[in-house]
Amino acid sequence: MSNANERQAELQAQYDRYLEADLKLDLTRGKPSTEQLDLSNELDGILGGFYMLQDGTDVRNYGGILGIPEARKLGSEILECRPEQTMVGGNSSLNLMYTFIDHKLTEWGEGAKFLCPVPGYDRHFAICAHFDIEMLTVPMTDDGPDMAVIEEMVTADPNIKGIWCVPKYSNPTGHTYSKETVQAFAGLPRKAGPGFCIFWDNAYAVHDLEEPGDTLHSLMTEAEKAGTQDSVVMLASTSKVTFAGAGISFLATGENSLKGYEKFLSSQVIGFDKVNQLRHVRFLEDMDKVRAHMAKHRDLIKPKFDMVLNKLETALGGKDIATWTSPRGGYFISLDTKPGLATGIVELAANAGVKLTPAGATFPYGKDPENTNIRIAPTYPSLSELEKAMDVFVTCVELATLNAELG
Ligand SMILES: Cc1ncc(COP(=O)(O)O)c(C=O)c1O
Repeated sequence: MSNANERQAELQAQYDRYLEADLKLDLTRGKPSTEQLDLSNELDGILGGFYMLQDGTDVRNYGGILGIPEARKLGSEILECRPEQTMVGGNSSLNLMYTFIDHKLTEWGEGAKFLCPVPGYDRHFAICAHFDIEMLTVPMTDDGPDMAVIEEMVTADPNIKGIWCVPKYSNPTGHTYSKETVQAFAGLPRKAGPGFCIFWDNAYAVHDLEEPGDTLHSLMTEAEKAGTQDSVVMLASTSKVTFAGAGISFLATGENSLKGYEKFLSSQVIGFDKVNQLRHVRFLEDMDKVRAHMAKHRDLIKPKFDMVLNKLETALGGKDIATWTSPRGGYFISLDTKPGLATGIVELAANAGVKLTPAGATFPYGKDPENTNIRIAPTYPSLSELEKAMDVFVTCVELATLNAELG
């Protein structure tokens, strides 16, 4: 038997033992762990019966669709723009993205298309699929999406009305866009057809795994210089800062654009949850406090990322089996297998009780043309569960690769 055949038999025996172990482990979604959520329990009761703002607003009552001034200010600091450009929504920035696109549909007309840097965030793609917006993929580079390709595409096709960006610690690759990329984005609406919007989903704006973290150049500052601020739609939320299911979200855009969106929203909501907004500003206060709070998250999740990277390196390093990212922030590690193997690996792992995000989810229409990309989300499981899950995962990756090579 060759060395490779021996290794294949060894891995198969190991895999069969996992099958018998009746594991139930989940690496699918980028959710904060219970310990991370516990960091923000102080939110409960923080108002101590005081509901009045300095300007006399009672946050328990109706109104204030753009949010309380204190929360708009906090959002503007996270997104690096001005409070007048920033509104505060409910517990989901995804919902703001959805409704913003909904409000642009009439202006865009039939046949709107979006650019999707890949791999990317599946729920962005789900919004496009829901509205029948055709998705066109764009390759990523280490500096962000390939701007030359993007500029060529938007110049050639005025029906391209938007692009999805996760500019800091991108989901799933962990890339942060370079200053040159941000500057090129600020000029992009001038090259595109009417109504073009950049969806700048800064979901991981303050989610550093290293100290200091990456610096993202301010898109709004550059857009104001280029006069394209109304084509910029920036988003963030406290979902992975405080409570994932009960945080607050932010949307920032040029003031004209914000007026149009406010009008659209006012036909469906009188105001978002201002009590929760006040709780959040009392708890998070300002960027110094936000950074100090995020350092506590880092202490909890960095060991998990380190462990995953360690397992990958120990089991797969130097074997020409897979490549993976070592993110400096965010919630994911992105792994590429040999072409054609990702779906099979996810299936092998699932049969052994380890759930992974479906292969292909990081591409529009769920179709990864090379069938290589797998997203690993290390934050939710405990360190010991994660360790078990990774043992199974690396076995599946190597076994599937050898099975493909040896038949
Ligand atoms: C890039 C990105 N945007 C948005 C979200 C969801 O944000 P929210 O909870 O504010 O809707 C996520 C969650 O995983 C994400 O990764």
